[in-house]
Amino acid sequence: MLIHVYKDAQEVGKAAAMIVAAEILKKEDCVLGLATGSTPIPTYKEMARMNKEGLIDFSKVRSYNLDEYIGLAPDHICSYRRFMNEQLFDHINIDKANTHVPCGIGEDHEADAKAYDEAVEAAGGIDLQILGIGHDGHIGFNEPGDEFISATNIVTLTDMTIDANTRFFEKRDDVPRQAITLGNRNIMAAKRIILLATGKDKAPAIAAAIKGNITPKMPASLLQVHPNVQFLLDEAAASLL
Ligand code: GLP
Repeated sequence: MLIHVYKDAQEVGKAAAMIVAAEILKKEDCVLGLATGSTPIPTYKEMARMNKEGLIDFSKVRSYNLDEYIGLAPDHICSYRRFMNEQLFDHINIDKANTHVPCGIGEDHEADAKAYDEAVEAAGGIDLQILGIGHDGHIGFNEPGDEFISATNIVTLTDMTIDANTRFFEKRDDVPRQAITLGNRNIMAAKRIILLATGKDKAPAIAAAIKGNITPKMPASLLQVHPNVQFLLDEAAASLL
C-alpha cells in the first residue's frame, strides 16, 4: 500500500486526475471504475480541465460506476447517474454509451446485479478503480458486516451512511434505504486502485482501514492485501495515521 498525503482536497484531486491521465495514455480504451460522493469532485473537475486543454482524450474510455440507489430513476436529481453526468460526463468527450451506472429501478434487482457483474467482467475488468470511503469504512456501498460480500449485490444502508448522505436530499426520509453496488470481488479484481479521502471526519475510517485488522466490519481494510493500491489523502484525513 502506498500512502500519499497532500495539503488539501484540491491537491488530492490534481494527483488523482494525473493518475487517470497516465492510465488513459497507457491504454486509450481503459476501463475506469468511478465513485460518487463529494470527495472525487475536485478530481472530476481536474479531469474535465485536462480534457478541455487537450491533455486527456476520453473518446475511447469506458467506465463502470460503483453503485446506485435502489428506487431512483437515472434522471432523479439525487441519482448517481445524474451526479456522474453533471459532475463529469457532461464535461468531457466520453461517449455516454460507454459509461455505465448500475440500474436502481429494474423489476429484478438480483438479475440486474448479476448482469452488471457480468458486464464488468466482459469488459475485461477494471483497470483503474477510484474509491472514496464512508465514515463506517464502506467502499462502494459495501457496508460493514460479518462477511466480505463478493459479487455485485443489493445492500441495506447503515444509519451512519443514511445520516451522511442526507445532505444530498431534502430530508432524511427521502434517502433510499437500499443500494446496488459492485462487490468486494469486483473492487479487489481492479488492476489498480486509488482511494481518495479528505477531511478530518474521514481520519478514523482511514486509520482503521490502513492500520487496523482486516475485517468485514471495516470493508476498506480489505485493500491492505490488494497488490496495487494507493491512498491519496489530505493532511486532515491522514491525521490519525
Ligand atoms: C457514498 C458512496 C461511496 C462514497 C461515500 C463517501 O456512500 N456510495 O462510494 O465513497 O459515499 O462519500 P463522500 O465522498 O461524499 O464522503
